[in-house]
Amino acid sequence: MRVVSGIQPTGNLHLGNYLGAIRNWVAMQDAMDDGSECLFFLADLHAISQPHDPAELRAGTLEMTAALVACGIDPERSILFNQAQIPAHGELQWLLAGTARMGWLNRMTQWKDKAGKNREGQSVALFSYPVLQAADVLLYQATHVPVGEDQKQHLELARDIAQKFNTDFASEEAPVFTLPDAIIPPQAARIMSLRNGNAKMSKSDPSEMSRINLADDADTVMKKVKKAKTDPEPLPSEKAGLEGRAEALNLVTIYSALTGDNVEQVLRDHGGQGFGNFKPVLGEALVEHLRPINERFVALKDDREELDAILARGAAQARERGLPTLDAAYKALGLVRG
Ligand code: TYM
Repeated sequence: MRVVSGIQPTGNLHLGNYLGAIRNWVAMQDAMDDGSECLFFLADLHAISQPHDPAELRAGTLEMTAALVACGIDPERSILFNQAQIPAHGELQWLLAGTARMGWLNRMTQWKDKAGKNREGQSVALFSYPVLQAADVLLYQATHVPVGEDQKQHLELARDIAQKFNTDFASEEAPVFTLPDAIIPPQAARIMSLRNGNAKMSKSDPSEMSRINLADDADTVMKKVKKAKTDPEPLPSEKAGLEGRAEALNLVTIYSALTGDNVEQVLRDHGGQGFGNFKPVLGEALVEHLRPINERFVALKDDREELDAILARGAAQARERGLPTLDAAYKALGLVRG
């Protein structure tokens, strides 16, 4: 098993990232047996596909490293690094760009959402973003890629690219790339904004009140939950009663993901309660869950030496893991490299 996944180091790590992806990374790391490996990275190269501030990106990369360690990623057991230290990601992206099709990229919903009506004004990097993402996982022969629902389409594209490359330039008996499987959590695959139950919780939402950040203190968490948009009805006792109530469903989903009780159980316990009762219960559960993460994060986030050392060690290990596949891809394409 080779587990590979990444996160953009822009903005804060929020509850959507944590419940949708990072928690799964930690679970997979903790379940690893001998011969299996996890590689987790900061997708700093992806972050330059949209307007950004260089100083913020540098600081954000270190801060997100601290956040991942605070969440339970152990750099002694997992390989933790940032893309920019591994030139092979960019190199493989170019090699795969000969295989990826314009039509495939044009169909990516994230491209359509982010570009909106102004496609002509977007960077080439935003358009070819999923090819770099394919390179990220194919470089390491990833078998499993734990992500939230919104990355599923990008992973399908990575499989399509790998499949076509193998067919065009290798053979079934000796493929260059492994086809990776997306691992999406059964619940919490898509945590929604606290201000709009139909929009995903996201770092790019201008409203801080739309998301819980893992670095938020207890008062902030309680305040955000209290102000979360809801409807006037009490919670139903059965799941069917949540239909058409996106905000209520989102809060119940978050509570369910935190406590480990499924949605049916949560509604059995809290059905009939109004949000005036349920919100403080949810807020407390969040504060309890986030407290140890918060403490570890605060202790590590300014330890520049330690964070640099973690990333340097991870980069050295990742470089070594990626080399054979990069060489095989060059060779398969007929490129002479001395
Ligand atoms: P990013 O940085 O937007 O998000 C990191 C992870 O968090 C998940 N996620 C969510 N899950 C549930 N609910 C939400 N509201 C929510 N918001 C985010 C994402 O699905 C993701 O798993 N392109 C990727 C980073 C990337 C990558 C990769 C991922 C680059 N290369 C290779 C996997 C494999 C991104 O921008 O994720």
